[in-house]
Amino acid sequence: MANRRLCCLLFGVQVLAAVAGARWPQDFLRLPSEGTRWAVLLAGSNGYYNYRHQADVCHSYQIMKKGGLKDDNIIVFMYDDIASSPDNPRPGVIINHPAGADVYAGVPKDYTGADVNVNNFLAVLLGNRSALTGGGSGKVVASGPSDHVFVYYSDHGGPGVLGMPSDEYLYAKDLVQALKTKHAAGGYRSLAFYLEACESGSIFEGLLPDDIGVYATTAANAEESSWGTYCPGDADGQAPPPEFDTCLGDLYSVAWMEDSDAPRDRRAESLEQQYEVVKDRTSANGTYSAGSSSHAMQYGDLRLGAAESLYQFMGTDPANDDDDKQPLLHPTPTSSKSVNQRDADLVHFWQRYRRSAEGTPQKAEARARLLQVLSRRARVDSSVELIGALLFGAEEGARVLGAVRPAGQPLADDWDCLKSVVRAYERHCGPLAQYGMKHVRSLANICNAGVGEEAMAKVTSQACAADRIVASS
Ligand SMILES: *[C@@H]1O[C@H](CO)[C@@H](O)[C@H](O)[C@H]1NC(C)=O
Ligand SMILES: *[C@@H]1O[C@H](CO)[C@@H](O)[C@H](O)[C@H]1NC(C)=O
Repeated sequence: MANRRLCCLLFGVQVLAAVAGARWPQDFLRLPSEGTRWAVLLAGSNGYYNYRHQADVCHSYQIMKKGGLKDDNIIVFMYDDIASSPDNPRPGVIINHPAGADVYAGVPKDYTGADVNVNNFLAVLLGNRSALTGGGSGKVVASGPSDHVFVYYSDHGGPGVLGMPSDEYLYAKDLVQALKTKHAAGGYRSLAFYLEACESGSIFEGLLPDDIGVYATTAANAEESSWGTYCPGDADGQAPPPEFDTCLGDLYSVAWMEDSDAPRDRRAESLEQQYEVVKDRTSANGTYSAGSSSHAMQYGDLRLGAAESLYQFMGTDPANDDDDKQPLLHPTPTSSKSVNQRDADLVHFWQRYRRSAEGTPQKAEARARLLQVLSRRARVDSSVELIGALLFGAEEGARVLGAVRPAGQPLADDWDCLKSVVRAYERHCGPLAQYGMKHVRSLANICNAGVGEEAMAKVTSQACAADRIVASS
């Protein structure tokens, strides 16, 4: 009798709360079920010298799978040119650690090749099947308001942009807008976004609101590189087997994944605790030693990061269910040398060159490739410098293009202007590509200084007409 009265009293309170406050239905949804876990995993590069991004993504799939997520709820984007690459010393196999097992087996090929693109990524995230193009699996995040969504993206990036294999860019503004749209449509209870890329902080800095249930962490702040790891030349135990010639992973990425793999119950670790572990490792134990470390960052709803466990997003391996009393172990950060994301291709071509026998066509080809990459870089750098000089004069141009906005401010005021300036640049000067993406901040600064599309087009064509003459002579 007493129980029934309590029950009715509670019911009355709930009805009152429902009438009085809009927050109640959300709280109620927490009670009946945990919701479904979804994961979107994307590697934005291709080419054997970018081995590590697809290796990271395959590894992340194995984590989700072991945690109990179903393949219906895990959506993988990868170019899928690594396992079968003629350069791969272990055909059909991908590893993400020097002594690691295969992480490729079983990975669903939802979106591969040219289907790895901005349109499909946003369509999948938004759960919009009719917006998909190409021949992918058609899986999308068809999630509801009690679900948890995990997004992991590993690639090259630049200020305000993330790469795709096709040399198109995902702009920060469009990504954050998609998250807002998903939130407004009741598409999740919480969403965690893990991002590995150079200048990855710039994707969320000053853009990601703290009240849309999104918690994001990034490999780097808004103005620094992120790092490849397990690279040729690393210390013993950290270097890949000698036949690999390429980095096997990325520092931030292997930090969160090796932490998630640790044999303990993922209910016992919050997202924020994992962030702290990752931050230690990417900062070389907080020393931020030059030339191998970055500032891992967190953005968005930080309360969510503190309150939600890894389990909410990654599930947990039943084999570790009894380990929830185990204290959180911080894995020993390694003294890996690491390689700047943007230089990992150089490391690969240099290794190729160094290791091929004197006088062979392989050696000549590796040398030609290395020189080609270096001269292309020099041309991109000098064309951007010249554009600055033509617009503002040499000294002022260097100042305007090199400016970095204070933390908390977005990279650009007008993202449509930025897109048009990038298009103008690429029309006259060729693709920015993986290396050139670092100049997007300079192009954003041109917009922020109020230079119009027309002036930009004129100056770009001037700057790169000269460049074409040099290139063809
Ligand atoms: C899904 O995408 C299609 C094609 O781009 C678009 O016309 C439609 O409005 C989108 N649907 C929703 C619900 O956003
Ligand atoms: C970080 O600290 C651990 C010991 O706590 C040490 O073994 C490791 O070498 C250090 N790493 C760096 C990069 O300093």
